[in-house]
Amino acid sequence: MKILIFENYEKMSKEATRIIAAQILRYPDSVLGLATGSTPMLTYKRLIRLCEEEIISFKKIKTFNLDEYLKIDIKNPASYHAFMEEVLFNKIDIDEKNWYIPNGNAEDIDKECILYDKKIKEMGGIDLMLLGMGSNGHIAFNEPGTSFSTRTHVVDLEENTIRDNSRFFDKLEDVPTQAITLGMRSIMESKQILFMASGANKAKAIRDAFEGPISVDVPASILQLHPNATILLDEAAAMELGR
Ligand code: GLP
Repeated sequence: MKILIFENYEKMSKEATRIIAAQILRYPDSVLGLATGSTPMLTYKRLIRLCEEEIISFKKIKTFNLDEYLKIDIKNPASYHAFMEEVLFNKIDIDEKNWYIPNGNAEDIDKECILYDKKIKEMGGIDLMLLGMGSNGHIAFNEPGTSFSTRTHVVDLEENTIRDNSRFFDKLEDVPTQAITLGMRSIMESKQILFMASGANKAKAIRDAFEGPISVDVPASILQLHPNATILLDEAAAMELGR
């Protein structure tokens, strides 16, 4: 695990963009794992710019998103589907049939979970997985306590996750209480992990995840065991490290 600390969010995002762009340039048919939330926003913006400047192309890139709310209208701007279209897919040259997001409205949700993992396998696995983290240490929507052996599955969201994510909705009651998420095992099977966290509200979870014991109580702590993980932090997120 390589931990890199940057002065601020902008510099951290610049490095994330550099790593992703390098992957795309070297392997133009890569399979990328993508995250939602505020953290990757600037990275996506910078990738869009590189694409507009024709420095990189997503024409042969395939992407798999980490998660989606259960039973949310995909036209709802707070759905991860709408979010990804708005912040990335509509603004790059990716082929519509090459991006995948779990379908939270599938009639048979268990089948959807199996099919999602199967699809990733069929594409040869995820080459580079971009990850953020919830303030309780969750990755994707794998809440504390989730077994490290899970594959794509349905989860009940924790109260503080619902509260954290309510900023994307009109009101707290609108936040779905369940989600479909890539499992811990599916995440760990990615060939390379690019983890990002910014801001003081993540500092405690960052310390627990990367300096504490590997434990299901802090899902991100499993990344200590990944053979090719890069952890990008801004100074605020890193402020509890080494104490
Ligand atoms: C959500 C997503 C996670 C994301 C987390 C952090 O819970 N399911 O994949 O990492 O939010 O979001 P933010 O970057 O907005 O702090």
